[in-house]
Amino acid sequence: MSEQVIDQVGEYYDDIGELVELVGGNLHVGYWESDEDDTPFLAAMQRLTTEVGALLAPRKGERVLDIGCGVGEPAVRLAQRYAITITGITVSHWQVAESARRVIAAGLRGRVATRYADAGAQPFPDAVFDAALAFDSLPSAQDKAQWLREVHRVLRPGGRFVFTEYPRTAELTAAERDILTANTIHHPPATLDESIALAEAAGFRVTDAHDWSERVHRTYDEFFTALAEQTPALAEEYGAERVAMFTEGITTMFSLCRAKIGYHAIACEKPV
Ligand SMILES: C[S@@+](CC[C@H](N)C(=O)[O-])C[C@H]1O[C@@H](n2cnc3c(N)ncnc32)[C@H](O)[C@@H]1O
Repeated sequence: MSEQVIDQVGEYYDDIGELVELVGGNLHVGYWESDEDDTPFLAAMQRLTTEVGALLAPRKGERVLDIGCGVGEPAVRLAQRYAITITGITVSHWQVAESARRVIAAGLRGRVATRYADAGAQPFPDAVFDAALAFDSLPSAQDKAQWLREVHRVLRPGGRFVFTEYPRTAELTAAERDILTANTIHHPPATLDESIALAEAAGFRVTDAHDWSERVHRTYDEFFTALAEQTPALAEEYGAERVAMFTEGITTMFSLCRAKIGYHAIACEKPV
């Protein structure tokens, strides 16, 4: 990925910064089984981490790479659930610092570590990880093939990989594509087959693939409700101007996502 794009992504997440508190550190969508499922918003977000973790099925002692780890919330949750070590990478300096704070607070020093690194040019030797996760981060890749080649390189033969994608569920106008790009989302696939083909082209064997669009769809309305409820407190804490700018940008983006963006979860492995 070009340095300009990496800086843009980094600044985007640095700017969100502390406002990540609104989503409990979960920079991904929520997961509900059905319309009748009354799981509250934050629990639904944690639930998606559980579902993605189950797809990855980490085994005791494995070394796991979390590509685009956000503030480390999913990594902390997975390290609490599974006896593994996790290395997270992100291109947001703010997230690296916040992640370190959360790891220490969770008592996971030595089990989870986060560093600044580009997924498209990873600073790791070949075949050092047993499993890898790209949880709502591959959509940020301008060159998805390069990211996936890098994941393939750093996984050992037989290593497993789970990634999620934000497919388009309807045609996008040029203006809508611009909104996605401004929010660091590039080249949304059109179908589940397209997401699968991305992995296969990088040399992976796909073992499981889900279209969870219906299951995550409630995220956007739930987010708008939480934001409206918390706006006065957030404005007091972080300043009315900052919160208003955030609200404007995220409302444009999430309104588009609610109308035209779905969700894929793909599990695959690097052949032996
Ligand atoms: C939507 S957030 C998801 C965060 C986290 N996986 C979660 O579920 O909370 C996307 C993440 O991908 C990271 N990211 C985007 N482009 C990246 C790149 N080129 N290299 C490493 N991380 C990247 C961002 O910094 C951010 O942490």
